[in-house]
Amino acid sequence: MLSAEQLVEHALAARQRAYAPYSHYPVGAALLTADNVVILGCNVENASYGASICAERVALTAAVAQGKHAFMAMAVATQNGGSPCGICRQVMAELGPAMVIYISDEAGHFRTTSVAELLPDSFTQANLVRP
Ligand code: THU
Repeated sequence: MLSAEQLVEHALAARQRAYAPYSHYPVGAALLTADNVVILGCNVENASYGASICAERVALTAAVAQGKHAFMAMAVATQNGGSPCGICRQVMAELGPAMVIYISDEAGHFRTTSVAELLPDSFTQANLVRP
């Protein structure tokens, strides 16, 4: 299995591909699947700001499109070690609730957390089951 450091390196590389002409805040994500495949994401912004998508969701949705549904970890890289946004946390809780999350700055210094820690008491499919 890939090390945390290796996954962070992938996220840093993905960050180089970000399309962030409006915020100038490039973000890279690297998702590690249970079968040891790395799937990359970067933020892709739009002149209609609300049409922008975060790096984490690009990686997770691309993974689903590739038939991947089991995830071990995700590394996220920003300039200053910024934390994933609320919408991305919700998507992480949906698709990879057991993931370990590495949050890195541009120098590769990272901290380790989890989806459960980032989004405790989340709304899930369990809430949609009728009594
Ligand atoms: N962004 C991400 O890609 N992931 C996050 O979790 C936080 C924010 C992006 C969205 C936008 O392109 C830029 O960072 C500034 O908000």
